[in-house]
Amino acid sequence: MRERLVIGNWKMNPPTIAEAVELARDVAGRDAGGVAVGVAPPAIALAAVADALRDANVDVYAQDVHWEERGAFTGQISVSMVRGLAVGTIVGHSEVRRDLGDTDERVAKKLARAVAAGLRPVLCVGESEAEHAAGNASIVVARQIVADLKAAQRRGLERLVVAYEPIWAIGTGNPATGTWATTLVRTIRAALKQSGLDGEAIPILYGGSVSARSVGEFADAEGIDGALVGGASLDADEFAAVVRAFA
Ligand code: 13P
Repeated sequence: MRERLVIGNWKMNPPTIAEAVELARDVAGRDAGGVAVGVAPPAIALAAVADALRDANVDVYAQDVHWEERGAFTGQISVSMVRGLAVGTIVGHSEVRRDLGDTDERVAKKLARAVAAGLRPVLCVGESEAEHAAGNASIVVARQIVADLKAAQRRGLERLVVAYEPIWAIGTGNPATGTWATTLVRTIRAALKQSGLDGEAIPILYGGSVSARSVGEFADAEGIDGALVGGASLDADEFAAVVRAFA
């Protein structure tokens, strides 16, 4: 059986480090029913949240890392800064691709760097609204998987997590359907196999407007092992409901 895993991607929230610590404590106080739980706070709150969750059953993830180990990269954080605070890192989120210009080539380098540093990568892939409308979702997502995994050593990738996040569903209140997500998850598993990995063993999360109301659709869908949750992860009650749906 694959691991069931729900991660809250807090993005550029909450507004202060103190509130991030408070939210982390609130998340840690809930029964996860055997589901692995993670939170990805903003980089500046990583240390405080890691400290608050030291004895808790909640894993901490970074939202992004740079592909170089150190150097003149203003505004960036390295894997060695993250290691010790977080068990893993998100890479390839569509908002980073959109706002910071990450290409598949960069995502591949980040993923390789994270794996080499012993950080668990949560690789995000997903098609845009235009690609979806054109019927190209499977082609786009398969291409991303193969390109993003190109640079990483196969050893260390056993702990890879993939998040299928269709861009048109993120932050819109309009999630995909479970049936659609299952179809894309099959594509992802085939692409993982093409990359030399055991696709059946790798957990795949769905992300995009997951809420307490919409989660049942994905918890019941074949092949989906959890969720990467944005907006709904900022409310501990709602996040707990999403987590429990996968128990
Ligand atoms: P929302 O849940 O707010 O749509 O965000 C999803 C997401 O991008 C998680 O990484």
